[in-house]
Amino acid sequence: MNGLKLLATGSALPSQVVTNDDLARMVDTSDEWITSRTGISARRRCAPGESHTGLCLAAARQALERAGVGPEEIGVCLVATLTADQLSPATACTLQQELGMGEDTVCFDLNAACSGFVYALHTAQCLLAAAPRKYGLILGAEVLSRFLDYTDRSTCILFGDGAGAAVVEWREEYPSLHAVLGCRGSQAIHVPGVAVGAPSHVRMEGQAVFRFAAETVPACIVQVLDKAGLGTQDVDRFVFHQANQRIIDLAVRKLKLPPEKCTGNIASTGNTSAASVPLLLDELVRTGALGPGQRALCVGFGAGLTWGGALLQLR
Ligand code: UT7
Repeated sequence: MNGLKLLATGSALPSQVVTNDDLARMVDTSDEWITSRTGISARRRCAPGESHTGLCLAAARQALERAGVGPEEIGVCLVATLTADQLSPATACTLQQELGMGEDTVCFDLNAACSGFVYALHTAQCLLAAAPRKYGLILGAEVLSRFLDYTDRSTCILFGDGAGAAVVEWREEYPSLHAVLGCRGSQAIHVPGVAVGAPSHVRMEGQAVFRFAAETVPACIVQVLDKAGLGTQDVDRFVFHQANQRIIDLAVRKLKLPPEKCTGNIASTGNTSAASVPLLLDELVRTGALGPGQRALCVGFGAGLTWGGALLQLR
């Protein structure tokens, strides 16, 4: 089989809570508009002194401790992100040093935007097959608040900060992720680089991205299940990227999924891009909604435009 199992998760959210009413004091919007169009009530934002690296370290330490795996046992460390504290060194390299992972650990950051954590899971599965140590430390982390234009009501209400981490183990007898990854190159979500010289702000064609997600999310779930030879009834939890509750509801209706297997945390986190899937995974594991031996179908989609789905089984 050659696959992965999830051993443990961790998460870290920054201290500042930004409510819809807080945003309504900054731009022409309302709690009613944001809640009804997105499902978001609040999101977290890094305060001065809090950082992307700090969130990653906290989430990673928690996941390692819960897994009972030492940093020296990690063979691959990947951080999915598009908002790291610096372009280089990669956040994963900082984690190698701060946590004390071996110098032969494969460490790098990966940018597939909101699909990043699913891309990282698949990448880890491939790399761990050849790695000397079979544990992987996989993170999704974002500080999107640094890239928001707080005069643009169509984007600043959506995004939040946070980090989620997962410790996985690769074994020959473990089930494959049956990952399905895709890309349709487009500027529909655009974050200019620092070289442009002007402040770098997220710009998004909201409706075009919504249509893209409404099409690709259900299709991706069906493709993952087809690859795995399973049906929706074999999945214990559908872990959707938390971008917009209406997108999730559309997929749930289209595939006739049981809504109780599709609950999320968008109301309190907003859209945390690459952090969204691992943050939700962590919440589900911590609350017992996802338990030993169960299967979670994780689905991400976003800038690129990219999408990705993978079936992750808990130990
Ligand atoms: O994680 C990356 C993936 N990203 C996504 O999945 C985002 C997908 N897109 C969306 O979630 C939605 O398109 C948005 C939430 C971004 C926007 O919702 P929408 O229902 O598509 O609104 P819209 O862009 O069609 O705008 C409708 C109206 C416009 O006013 P007019 O032209 O009808 O007068 C907007 O100016 O709503 C206005 N509007 C707002 N009004 C109050 C846009 N943003 C706001 C706001 N508050 N925050």
